Amino acid sequence: MSNWQRDSWRDFPIKQQPTYANIDELCKVEQTLSKLPPLIFAKEAKRLTKQLSKVEQGKAFLLQGGDCAESFANFDANNIKNLFKVMMQMAVVLIFSTQKPVIKIGRVAGQFAKPRSDDFECINGVSLPSYRGDIINDIAFDKISREPNAQRLLQAYYQSASTLNLIRAFSTDGLANLNKIHNLNLEYANNFDTQNNFQNIAGKISDTLNFMKACGAHPNNTRSLKQTKFYTSHEALLLNYEEALTRVDSLSGDYYDCSAHMLWIGERTRGLDDAHIEFFRGIKNPIGCKISDKISNDELIKLCNKLNPQNESGRLTLIVRMGVSKIKEHLPRVIKTLKKEGIRVVLSCDPMHANTKKTNNGYKTRLFQDIVNETKSFFEICKSEDFYAGGIHLEMSGNDVTECTGSLSSNIQELDLANRYETQCDPRLNAKQALELAFNVAEYVKSEYK
Ligand code: PEP
Ligand code: CO
Repeated sequence: MSNWQRDSWRDFPIKQQPTYANIDELCKVEQTLSKLPPLIFAKEAKRLTKQLSKVEQGKAFLLQGGDCAESFANFDANNIKNLFKVMMQMAVVLIFSTQKPVIKIGRVAGQFAKPRSDDFECINGVSLPSYRGDIINDIAFDKISREPNAQRLLQAYYQSASTLNLIRAFSTDGLANLNKIHNLNLEYANNFDTQNNFQNIAGKISDTLNFMKACGAHPNNTRSLKQTKFYTSHEALLLNYEEALTRVDSLSGDYYDCSAHMLWIGERTRGLDDAHIEFFRGIKNPIGCKISDKISNDELIKLCNKLNPQNESGRLTLIVRMGVSKIKEHLPRVIKTLKKEGIRVVLSCDPMHANTKKTNNGYKTRLFQDIVNETKSFFEICKSEDFYAGGIHLEMSGNDVTECTGSLSSNIQELDLANRYETQCDPRLNAKQALELAFNVAEYVKSEYK
């Protein structure tokens, strides 16, 4: 990798970073972090690249989801457990409909840094630095809370380690048991409108499991029915943190960012000559990059060449977030460009980030129907352009939050938003809405793959 070092990003222009008042303290924290154990192993990241390569080849499906921003205050075993559970439930629905393995990646155990539209937030004439995620500052609106504090990098690391510990336990012992997961699906599906095929799919899954049981395949004797692999990911926005957790793999000599299995670059920091692209080109993890309608065809080609010069399958996932009103105009040209240039990427649909609205009562929300419609368009366009629709990328919670409006399963109205609006940043699907979306996707893939 020519001229690349863990810290070579420091010589490039960088966006969306905090300004630390105490640089000495930041350096000390970086040094401490660089000596702490890695959170993941290079081998795991390599395995995920292989799995994503299967997605790229149309042989598997990617499900990525979790909080917009994890928080220190809401750090709680139940939140992690509920996210894990609902993602497993969605995976069952998707495995059944795609008849392919589903690769599960959480936006979890490190999703702490947030890009913001404005550097300052103004309330009642008082202007303070914007909240940039718990790894940087505190959400409370006062001067001290909003000051970037380097000690938060350590707290984010320890919380990520603890979260990952629990996820690893859930994956091997108990919570990944297919029969138990499926029973929960049925409970939810019973609440859905029967004219939508949900009952039908849920019933078929049930029959299949009973058939397998009768044949002797049971979680007690078949490991794959009771264990799973659940990967972690986050937006690698705060490069001081990512650099400190980047380690050399002793087997290959390659660098891996050991803060998570997969990292992605946000829409606002993917400038071709900027620091984030520089950092990402040198790490060997599977990586993602968000792309909106704003990306030009030329920029797209250059971006893929910089991030994946060998055109390696499974290395790069493009996470499309164009919005329900723009996807039909822009995704076809993006796909045509990828095909024309022979660029190998996983295409995943983020139907959240370009569908955000503000309600009259001041809540940032998303309409469930917009999310469904953008997802549907994504699958239809991929089908008509003959490109594999690889996966979905969602902001979701395993809890019964009220942040996105609508859906058959929750039917949240604007006035309900105040009930359990708990997000630190963007509005998430609640557990029922996320599962309802998975049932919708099940319908789209059935028609896409036929
Ligand atoms: C996000 O995924 O939380 C995010 C900020 O997305 P984007 O970079 O697409 O705006
Ligand atoms: Co978000």
